[in-house]
Amino acid sequence: MPADTMQIARVDLSAEAERVSRAIDAFFSALLAPPGDGRSQLYEAMRHAVLGGGKRLRPLLTIAAARLFAVDEARAMRVAGAVEAIHVYSLIHDDLPCMDDDDLRRGKPTVHMAFDEATAVLAGDSLHALAFEILADEATHPDAAIRSQLALALARAAGPSGMAGGQMMDLAAEGRRLDLQAITRLQQLKTGALIEYAIEAPCILAALDPADRAPYQAYAEEVGLAFQIADDLIDDGGDEAAAGKRIGKDAAAGKATFVSLLGADGARRRANELVDHAIGRLDRHGQEADLLRAIARFAIERDR
Ligand code: IPE
Ligand code: IPE
Ligand code: MG
Ligand code: MG
Ligand code: MG
Repeated sequence: MPADTMQIARVDLSAEAERVSRAIDAFFSALLAPPGDGRSQLYEAMRHAVLGGGKRLRPLLTIAAARLFAVDEARAMRVAGAVEAIHVYSLIHDDLPCMDDDDLRRGKPTVHMAFDEATAVLAGDSLHALAFEILADEATHPDAAIRSQLALALARAAGPSGMAGGQMMDLAAEGRRLDLQAITRLQQLKTGALIEYAIEAPCILAALDPADRAPYQAYAEEVGLAFQIADDLIDDGGDEAAAGKRIGKDAAAGKATFVSLLGADGARRRANELVDHAIGRLDRHGQEADLLRAIARFAIERDR
């Protein structure tokens, strides 16, 4: 058995994922108690999207990296909630008819199907705002400078230099053939930026010297790319029931993906290489990095 697999065997990834998912659910459930007024539908739509679903990969990354730097877990969990709020907002908008036009997400009807388009737009907007409200709250960190760094980095990861910019590139590339460099850049923004933030945020919480962050940044970049390749592979030949979302849509829409360029086998090889590199970035660490190693493997060995 290779050395890294032996080390990974020391952590129970599914138990950790379960624990983090429960904590994230409890966090949002408390924050989003529906008010008894005209906003009820908005709160119900946010709850529909954010509760009881998804792999919670980004929160898990934040919690795993926080452990590496001995960051207080309650603070890290709030930041994990902020990252997940941005992610879920991005999914709600990604599924809208004006974007990918999907009717199934996390095994349930998408928000615009379960409610309506206006409610879906507002639920996304509200989760976006909520993320920054969470970070700006003193409960996240007593030092205002740390809170400001957390918010600044998330704004960069979510906006035109990050996720939203990548989504624009994704739409603009429909029906066009991009080269490897262009697809890599698109995916880095669309999916990578937020995954990188999930790892950068615990570095900020730990006030880690920026000069010492490079290996974690590299790990996150590689895991982010590999994760999106796995998403493209699921769309290409995955199982709809397991994935909880429609498959076969990328090819139908003429999306530029690693699979469309490299083929499924080439994309799988590339994802494996990226994960091997990512795990190598953690070589200086012992058992405390096992969860991050296990998450890196999971990023590509998954069916949903
Ligand atoms: C799906 O993300 C969209 C991408 C950015 C690839 P996830 O695969 O993390 O979706 P959930 O959170 O598990 O539903
Ligand atoms: C979506 O990528 C990425 C974001 C939501 C930022 P995809 O469009 O490939 O995600 P799925 O396949 O619908 O989950
Ligand atoms: Mg999309
Ligand atoms: Mg989509
Ligand atoms: Mg996809």
